[in-house]
Amino acid sequence: MCGIVGYNGKNKAVDILMDGLSKLEYRGYDSAGIAIFDKDIEIYKAKGKLVNLSEKLKDKDLNGTCGIGHTRWATHGEPSENNAHPHISNDGNVTLVHNGIIENYQELILKLENHKYKFYSETDTEVLTNIIDYYYKKYKLGPIDAINRTMVRVRGSYAIAVMFKEYPGEIWVARKDSPMIIGQNKDGVYVASDVPAILKYTKNVYYIGNMEAACLKKDKVIFYDLNGDVIQKELKRIKWDVSAAEKEGYEHFMIKEINEQPEVIKRTINSYVLDNKIDFSKCGLTRDKLKSYKQIYIVACGSAYHVGVCAQYVLEDLTRIPVRVEMASEFRYRKPILNKNGLVIIISQSGETADSLAALREAKNQGIDTLGIINVVGSSIAREADYVLYTLAGPEISVATTKAFSTQLIVSYLLAIEIASAKRKINKKVYNNLLKEMVLLPDKVQYILDNLTKDIQRIASKFSHIKDAFYIGRGLDYAISLEGSLKLKEVSYIHSEAYAAGELKHGTISLIEDNTLVVGIVTQNNIYEKSISNFVEVKSRGGYMLIIAPEDLNINKVSNHSLIIPNTINYFYPSLTVIPLQLISYYITVSKGLDVDKPRNLAKSVTVE
Ligand code: F6R
Repeated sequence: MCGIVGYNGKNKAVDILMDGLSKLEYRGYDSAGIAIFDKDIEIYKAKGKLVNLSEKLKDKDLNGTCGIGHTRWATHGEPSENNAHPHISNDGNVTLVHNGIIENYQELILKLENHKYKFYSETDTEVLTNIIDYYYKKYKLGPIDAINRTMVRVRGSYAIAVMFKEYPGEIWVARKDSPMIIGQNKDGVYVASDVPAILKYTKNVYYIGNMEAACLKKDKVIFYDLNGDVIQKELKRIKWDVSAAEKEGYEHFMIKEINEQPEVIKRTINSYVLDNKIDFSKCGLTRDKLKSYKQIYIVACGSAYHVGVCAQYVLEDLTRIPVRVEMASEFRYRKPILNKNGLVIIISQSGETADSLAALREAKNQGIDTLGIINVVGSSIAREADYVLYTLAGPEISVATTKAFSTQLIVSYLLAIEIASAKRKINKKVYNNLLKEMVLLPDKVQYILDNLTKDIQRIASKFSHIKDAFYIGRGLDYAISLEGSLKLKEVSYIHSEAYAAGELKHGTISLIEDNTLVVGIVTQNNIYEKSISNFVEVKSRGGYMLIIAPEDLNINKVSNHSLIIPNTINYFYPSLTVIPLQLISYYITVSKGLDVDKPRNLAKSVTVE
């Protein structure tokens, strides 16, 4: 997905912009560009990787200390230098970079064509650039007026950084439903769509709100509301570590992040469990409040949705209240009938996923309490939800989520335990046992990483050529199969499907041929025999059964190969089974020679529908 970086200060902007853009490469992009304001505004763009842009800049003497940059992920118009940002208005008055989508751009083209504007690219961004120029010239009230009138006129989502020819040494920014932060240090002011782009320079940031704008001067930032009135904002400190956004000796971010899981799981547990008691007071969720909920809805996308499927099993079993889990893209348009005494939980790493944000707003419109389980502090969902439980995964760079997923699982277990306890569905002894077992998870995850990695590496190279794979399990093992299957297909491009093991014989089993890879997960002792029968059905049709199971379940007779994980309580197995699943996907992808951190067509945070 597109990325924005801007800098205005004492130092040469080009270096900071190129460095910032390189930190945003992980979001996925197909072209890049920068604009530097020195005497004039100079623009350089290139299709493809950032090195192509660097090549173009090699012999240029760019001394300007104010500039904006962009990595584009094509939506309107093919990936090309012409469609790359920055875009300029017809007479070069306005230069702009943009993340997001302008929904009514066709209608705006007609309006602007009536005023003799011409268009040279296929992008909605060029339309946005010219509409700002149009209002700037029509009302002659300066940048903030032009930007605010534009915000009222356009529909869609956007984060923009703009330079006006007549306002040298200023960058103007605005946003609606697309992330953007503004950082500041003694050397200047920075803007970015994503924290890693500026983390090296400053951890002090402002969060700019929806439909707000700001002017970045060399040493200060002035914020405006939609009326054009100045508003005050506080600088906030980001806790993320700079090293968290670097590979630190690992070959890829994905394997680094997989290996960080013991630490981030521990950190997340420790932030909510104090003296053997769960404490959500930081987020304002009292036990009385939790006790009052009669229904829970979990809404999310992709892997976060899979956390929701896991959470549904644990929450319903522990709390005995109905839980419904739904994909945000479906929830938002299906006019859901929500129980007024319910709680809508939105799970999102980025806190910016467009469908999840829209689902949150739908729930709020219906007057239902909302809770975000979010990784990025200050993100849109975190700001708009009634309550927020942060996952402490730190910045996740690899497009495929691993460590954020694991911390989301932890927060959902904690929530289930706390609601069950508040509703008196579990007694003190069960509560204590659950927490006692939960704090052992980081060491068990570490055990899996230390003891299974080599074996998985071997088996992965054996299966790197396959075209199809299946993941099967029952109950929580089915829930985590969904994640295993998504992880494999998104990074390795191998077609894969997850099935509830008992469902396989209702059609899908006809796809099993000699040596089809079927990953079977069996951890839930109450349904162990049922799962084993399903695995036997597969094996007897020639399927290759790679089974993940805990020490105390016997799978010898059915597995072609087994990956044995430590024992834990039934509810917590997804935290352990997901680790070999992530490693399988990682090593298969690496042995295929693919770019595991940046799979084709994918973006880290999906801020468009
Ligand atoms: C898969 C993956 C995606 C995200 C999904 C939701 O590895 O990362 O499926 O889980 O796009 O993103 P967030 O959690 O940012 O809302």
